[in-house]
Amino acid sequence: MSTRYREIGAGHVALSVAKLQVGTRLPFDVYIKDGGVVKPLFNKGMIFSRIAHSVLQEKGLSEIYILAESGASLDSYIAHSALKEGSVLEDPVAFMNYSHTKDKYFQIERGLLVAGTAVSFSIYAQDRMRFHEVAQASDASPVKIDNSVLQAVGDLCIMSADVPKYHEYLKTIAAVKSLSPEDAARVKTLAVKENAKVVMKELLQDPRSGQAIKKTGQIVNNMIDSILENRDTIYDLVSLKQYDYYTYTHSVNVGVLSIGLGLAVNLDRTQTTLLGMGAMLHDVGKSAIPSEILNKQGKLDDTEYMLIKNHVVEGEKILSSNAEFPPDALPAALQHHEKLTGRGYPGGLSGKGIKLFGRIAAIADCYDALTTRRPYKAPMAPFYALSIIAKETGDYDPELLKIFIKMLGKIK
Ligand SMILES: [Fe+2]
Ligand SMILES: [Fe+2]
Repeated sequence: MSTRYREIGAGHVALSVAKLQVGTRLPFDVYIKDGGVVKPLFNKGMIFSRIAHSVLQEKGLSEIYILAESGASLDSYIAHSALKEGSVLEDPVAFMNYSHTKDKYFQIERGLLVAGTAVSFSIYAQDRMRFHEVAQASDASPVKIDNSVLQAVGDLCIMSADVPKYHEYLKTIAAVKSLSPEDAARVKTLAVKENAKVVMKELLQDPRSGQAIKKTGQIVNNMIDSILENRDTIYDLVSLKQYDYYTYTHSVNVGVLSIGLGLAVNLDRTQTTLLGMGAMLHDVGKSAIPSEILNKQGKLDDTEYMLIKNHVVEGEKILSSNAEFPPDALPAALQHHEKLTGRGYPGGLSGKGIKLFGRIAAIADCYDALTTRRPYKAPMAPFYALSIIAKETGDYDPELLKIFIKMLGKIK
């Protein structure tokens, strides 16, 4: 523990509010002193947004407190002070290296690693465009999950080649005896989402695979089951996603959000399944776009923009030529970039010309894009993103938007 931070007793240390970086994820729980008592305020993992910052200012606080045992993450947090909300990186070389390396890794969910369980795959943390190993393991020498993994700063990843091992690990953890019933249920829900990411990654690598499209249908049905079983599941599925952008993660998020909105407007089971499939596969045409363009930071030139826009038509070709893909699901994919004002693409459709599935997927797609982190752009807090979408007057269906905002109202 560094001596730079003042100990205040009861296991907490004080930290100046000025040291908190707006637009980055908090690697520790944040406490405040209220009436002489230390109380929790922000959870670990939450994006410290401008709104969160203004909450502290309104309370007139100049210091916050963290648990002394979080001290290890504090030093590295303070060292990484450069990433600010809306900032653009100045190091294009590091960014290009990162873009080329990132596909070797698969992003995993920290909440699914259970302390004390053994894994036979190495785990890495991606922080500020660098991957470093936080646990070394193999079949011959498995390693137990401990705090060095659970508290590592950054996104946790594994090598893509280890995805099958991760898949096996997911099957075993829901049965871990030390988990409370609530934690076991949460683990089960998160595992559904992780499995969806695995399937989406497979599908984006081999977009014409009928097998992967069939699996997408099963995944969508599992998600609908978990949401119908417990409506609050949707928060587990969408709120833990302050990660760097990968198309497979984005696809799953847009699928989940669309399913949630579909259920909220009382679509029946069959319709919700179709909507979920189209939404989950909405960006399948991106598999044809070179990763340099897909991951480019800064403004795209006209040709690059045309190529990006073409992912919708490309996706339509892939999906409509696949016998496993139900044609009624297509509007969610084909119309997710259409805008009610007619300013969208590829059809420039307007108003009622855009089907319900397209209007739902458009809201889900925009929301996820705004709340996802990029190396050059911090994610927006959900509340902030929703207010931006609501300001895009006329582009999105106002009735659906109201229901969407209500649905996500509980997300911090
Ligand atoms: Fe798209
Ligand atoms: Fe998208």
